[in-house]
Amino acid sequence: MSRFYLTTPIFYVNDAPHLGHAYTTVTADAVCRWQRLLGNDVVFMTGTDEHGLKVQRAAEANGLTPQEQADQTSERFRDAWDHINIAYDDYIRTTEPRHHASVRAFMQRCYDNGHIYKGTYDGLYSVSDEAYVTQADVDEGRVSGPVERMTEENYFFKLSEFAEPLLEWFEREPENITPTRYRNEALGIIKGGLADVSVTRTSLDWGIRVPWDESQVFYVWYDALINYATVAGYDGDPDRFAAWWPATRHLLGKDIIRFHCVYWPAMLMAAGVKDLPKFHVHGWLLIGGEKMSKSKLNQISPENMTEEFGVDGFRYAMLRDTSFGPDNDFSYEALLSRYTSDLANAFGNLLGRVAAVVESKAGGIGPAASPDSPLRESTAAAYEAASKAWEQVQPSVALDATWQILRDANEYFQRMEPWKLPEGNEVNAVLGDTLECLRIATILASPAIPDAAAVAWQRIGMTGNPADQRLPEAAEWGGYGGGTQVIRGDPLFPRISSD
Ligand code: ME8
Ligand code: MG
Repeated sequence: MSRFYLTTPIFYVNDAPHLGHAYTTVTADAVCRWQRLLGNDVVFMTGTDEHGLKVQRAAEANGLTPQEQADQTSERFRDAWDHINIAYDDYIRTTEPRHHASVRAFMQRCYDNGHIYKGTYDGLYSVSDEAYVTQADVDEGRVSGPVERMTEENYFFKLSEFAEPLLEWFEREPENITPTRYRNEALGIIKGGLADVSVTRTSLDWGIRVPWDESQVFYVWYDALINYATVAGYDGDPDRFAAWWPATRHLLGKDIIRFHCVYWPAMLMAAGVKDLPKFHVHGWLLIGGEKMSKSKLNQISPENMTEEFGVDGFRYAMLRDTSFGPDNDFSYEALLSRYTSDLANAFGNLLGRVAAVVESKAGGIGPAASPDSPLRESTAAAYEAASKAWEQVQPSVALDATWQILRDANEYFQRMEPWKLPEGNEVNAVLGDTLECLRIATILASPAIPDAAAVAWQRIGMTGNPADQRLPEAAEWGGYGGGTQVIRGDPLFPRISSD
């Protein structure tokens, strides 16, 4: 058994969750559910990033204190994740005492190790990015909102000292950041030259106090990134941290590569943490070719989508219809057609049809799978492909492979026409083999559609929950022993009309 610690970014609480946040979070949830099927020990965390100017200003605009703004919005994220069945193990808020203690300990260590010095920052700041930017960033369109001039006496992190150690890390670990295009982007940032960064602010109160100079607070990113260490027990639980930190993987969007894949590893080195995380980076969900964001009016909430497709329908269609890495255009029509072909037809309809024939030809009792089934080999190959794809954080590939099992079973069922066969061995073999395909596909699909998978599991006469099965054994052909009641039930995925 191995450990698997997966994080999402912690989201800003200036505004409500939208589909972009849901995309990262559903992907992370499904990947963790897969790891649990493998029997691995999993910690999956998400949470909210609550300090900084952006949140403080949103609070002012809403007539709230920053704490009230944070409390209300953090709750909205948590509600959204509960609604779409996100099984996180920890939900961190950066305003929690455990995080304050951890940031202070972590940054004190960097300070004591000689990587932080006092200087003057004089330059531009983009509040919407919570980032120090240059005039070139502004001119070349890398800034998402208005910038302001800032002159402050701050503490600086000697990022410039870490270019060499960062390059060595890239040298050592060819898969530290996937997909490769984002690894190259991070490498380009490092090779382009690293300037020291201001890590504290004096003009702002809404933050974590600097332990060696209480007149300053940490710059929000140098508070936020440390959340991942907080959850792993950085402050106060060294045994837990030693056990879990080497198992860390970060999922994130390409907007925050610089902070995650360059600044954060350098900070970890500065604090003397030996193991560096692995990073899995994805592109944008685009609507009509444009990035969904808070400043645009093209935000869709996860709730809008589940009203239409149900929770599992939404999760599946989003995971299956996007590719983890590139930007993905998101459209209602594409999701609807994916829902209809894969869920309503390939899965739900097959389940209904096989149950009907089990009722008419086998007295409602599922027959066992046959050991020499023509579907056996293709099912094993599909499992191998799905397993590899989940390891590589490619849910769409994994689900495509899983649905190959269902496509093959549908084709077989259709070709054998069991409803025309007399009762007996031949029809029993067709039914048993189809049920076996459904059993295996249900387990493999459960990370994407946990509730529907649990229902399908009962319908085919299995007891317990597919999520409690252990791979790879549970995917081996022959697990469907038969002899139990198969239930017809309502359509698992009701059809949605397109008007
Ligand atoms: O950056 N498509 O928070 P944030 C895909 N608090 N993913 C999207 C997306 C889109 N259109 N829009 C947002 C922050 N995301 C910091 C992070 S972590 C220590 C601190 C997702 O609320 C994607 O994961 O701006 C992106 O990286 C993240 O939301 C940014 O969320
Ligand atoms: Mg953002």
